[in-house]
Amino acid sequence: MDNHTLTITDNRTQKSYEVPISHGTIRAMDLRQIKTGPEDFGLMTYDPAFMNTASCQSAITYLDGDAGILRYRGYPIEQLAEKCTFLEVAYLLLNGELPTSDQLDEWNCRVMRHTMLHENVRKFMDGFHHDAHPMGMLISTVAALSTFYPDVRNIADARCRRKQIVRLIGKMPTLAAFSYRHRLGRPYVYPDPDLSYTQNYMNMLWRKTEPKYAANPVLSRALEVLFILHADHEQNCSTSTMRAVGSSNADPFSTTAAAIAALSGPLHGGANEEVLRMLDEVGSKEHIPAFIEQVKEGKRKLMGFGHRVYKNYDPRARIIKQVAEEVFEVTGRNPRIDIALELEKIALSDEYFIKRKLYPNVDFYSGIIYQAMGFTPDQFTVLFGIPRTVGWLAQWEEMMLDPERKIARPRQIYTGADKRDFVPITLRSVHDRELVGA
Ligand code: SDX
Repeated sequence: MDNHTLTITDNRTQKSYEVPISHGTIRAMDLRQIKTGPEDFGLMTYDPAFMNTASCQSAITYLDGDAGILRYRGYPIEQLAEKCTFLEVAYLLLNGELPTSDQLDEWNCRVMRHTMLHENVRKFMDGFHHDAHPMGMLISTVAALSTFYPDVRNIADARCRRKQIVRLIGKMPTLAAFSYRHRLGRPYVYPDPDLSYTQNYMNMLWRKTEPKYAANPVLSRALEVLFILHADHEQNCSTSTMRAVGSSNADPFSTTAAAIAALSGPLHGGANEEVLRMLDEVGSKEHIPAFIEQVKEGKRKLMGFGHRVYKNYDPRARIIKQVAEEVFEVTGRNPRIDIALELEKIALSDEYFIKRKLYPNVDFYSGIIYQAMGFTPDQFTVLFGIPRTVGWLAQWEEMMLDPERKIARPRQIYTGADKRDFVPITLRSVHDRELVGA
């Protein structure tokens, strides 16, 4: 065996094992052979939150957390954000190559043909309270969409998979815009396929009585860039959820609804909304030192900071800061940007953050832009979910085509009671383990 191996000595038995190393990993199943006797199940790895576990092989997105590098299909995010449209990047993520001009035209038409919703989805949307959180509306309506297309469960057929993928990419902005209009009590604006993907989204959000919506080019370009930056990010929490749920052969709409639910958490995609609440709470530069002390005392987190992979500046945050200044030229400066910039400056010079390699992530500045554009904080994570739908679906299809694909089913370390016999209710004693709850 070549020297790309690990030699393991089990000190319990003095036995030695050679385990191959590939791509900087060993196969967890190669540890199962390490036993103390024939009745032993064999060794497993224990890795809560998958801190040091590769769950799959993927060719879609590459991250280098220490260097702060992000590439989609090998292309640096900085180049894609500067030179591409969002649907061009969506094509790249799904197909592995940038499209030719004709391929892009055909792709744009295909997606924009699938922006309409069945009228019954409107009735479903109308059932929500006026103050329903848009992420709850998105989770529910995306899952409900699976009931409108009988072919959605035909996931073994490549053409059918692609049809669902295009349907979802096309319909996400419509669902998001309908939820936005529903909460404001405004009539729904239907898609206009003559417009680009982001201009049509703005049309469904903000058109009033004008016959044709004219999107501000600076704002629609800013949305294109923000959508590109949020499109994929290897095996983050919501993408891992997409792969796990999809591994049971669930349909792609229900699977995407599960991914949206994972994204909604404040430690993940919900952080952009929490950043704005945090900046409003800080209120002014004068209050920053006291807030930073609370963070260092562990009383709260600096939302929008830190990352499981990036131990350097998130390359997306760097680009978003540039986009912010361009947007403010149109919308006027959002004063919260000055508090955010001062927070970043102070944090990046403080030993607590330096030692823990905590830098601004994608969520630190994005909400400030969204708010300047007219979105309320509870819409921010929806703006994350629209573009991330492309990444989720690209990763889902890659998983569906993976020759190693099996249903995701991890094991556990059992820490519960040993075998014990049933106790009749008359003989039971009061215990203090009752879960306190409603
Ligand atoms: C996204 O994974 C992805 O790729 C996600 C994402 C994507 O595109 O899909 O990039 C999008 O989710 C970005 C992250 C958005 N979340 C936030 O901004 C929430 C605030 N950040 C933290 O909750 C945290 O940094 C996480 C959840 C992002 C990462 O957490 P980890 O990797 O589990 O790190 P940890 O919680 O173990 O922290 C290590 C140390 C701890 O201190 P000690 O116990 O060593 O004393 O760093 C501290 C933490 O307390 N720490 C923070 C902090 N983040 C980590 N302290 C203060 N503020 C923070 N934000």
